Amino acid sequence: MVTTGFVPGPTAAPSRSLWRPLNPPVPDWAGQRVWVVGASSGIGAELALALQRRGARVAISARRRPALEAIAAQCPPPPPDAEDPTRPMQVMPLDINDAPAVASCCDALVREWGGIDLVLWVAGIYQPMRAQNFELGVAQGMLQTNLVAVYSGLAAVLPLLLRQRAGGIALVSSVAGYSGLPQALVYGPTKAALINLAESLYLDLRASGIGVYLINPGYVDTPATAGNDYTMPALITAREAADATLSGIAAGRFEIHYPKRFTWWLKGARLLPYRLYFALVRRVTGA
Ligand SMILES: NC(=O)c1ccc[n+]([C@@H]2O[C@H](COP(=O)([O-])OP(=O)(O)OC[C@H]3O[C@@H](n4cnc5c(N)ncnc54)[C@H](OP(=O)(O)O)[C@@H]3O)[C@@H](O)[C@H]2O)c1
Repeated sequence: MVTTGFVPGPTAAPSRSLWRPLNPPVPDWAGQRVWVVGASSGIGAELALALQRRGARVAISARRRPALEAIAAQCPPPPPDAEDPTRPMQVMPLDINDAPAVASCCDALVREWGGIDLVLWVAGIYQPMRAQNFELGVAQGMLQTNLVAVYSGLAAVLPLLLRQRAGGIALVSSVAGYSGLPQALVYGPTKAALINLAESLYLDLRASGIGVYLINPGYVDTPATAGNDYTMPALITAREAADATLSGIAAGRFEIHYPKRFTWWLKGARLLPYRLYFALVRRVTGA
């Protein structure tokens, strides 16, 4: 067992300046204890690898153990000056829809690490659906995994973060949560709810020194989008998404959205009156 007393991160009381970072910046990832939930592929896997390269201690969770082990096996050797040069990336398989499993995984990490500095909640499923092919079972599965299970994660980590009065939680939502889009009949509302949830969490937790980060990617080339049968605008790689996510957290931003050439366009579109917004989306998507 590794015993490291918890050293609170840079979590000074929030400054009153209007231009301050909204969250505690993370100037150095070395030694940060990060749990990436949803790390067996795509953005989560690249986040785990990028964190490991930056010297963080990383634990990875998802359902598929072999895929997690393959990610852990890709870890570059730790830098020669690392605190623990032999530590591996910790593989902790779980199904986020199993709340007791999420809680016991969190407890096991706390026993091992003495605390957690950042929980990156990346897990989610994407199944395109329109009103014309609506299926209740598929909808319920997406609502459960993308939204209800996030509350199992919160139930597990909030008491710890509040006890520590430090650390943070990052929720991966999507630009699909900004406003209604075709094919997003269920996925879109789950991601809109996560945006609202992150905003509420921020208001509740910031005064306690806890960071809340909202990640809104545009199109990222991952297994989740591999089945899309249209040209995805401004598509980026999962590694680019991971780098943008970690840069945003390091800078202490609240919302981290990328790529900007796509996300600013969507942010502008949602400000339009509905008459114009619907006409624009129909025109661009052909819906
Ligand atoms: N790709 C994009 O364009 C894009 C854009 C915006 C937002 N996002 C969001 O980014 C996140 C990552 O997606 P991705 O594109 O990287 O897709 P991905 O490669 O399919 O990754 C999804 C991850 O979630 C895990 N997961 C799914 N259900 C789970 C469950 N019940 N329990 C535990 N883990 C579970 C998967 O692991 P297992 O299957 O092994 O469980 C996998 O590691 C998602 O929240 C997605 O909505 C993606």
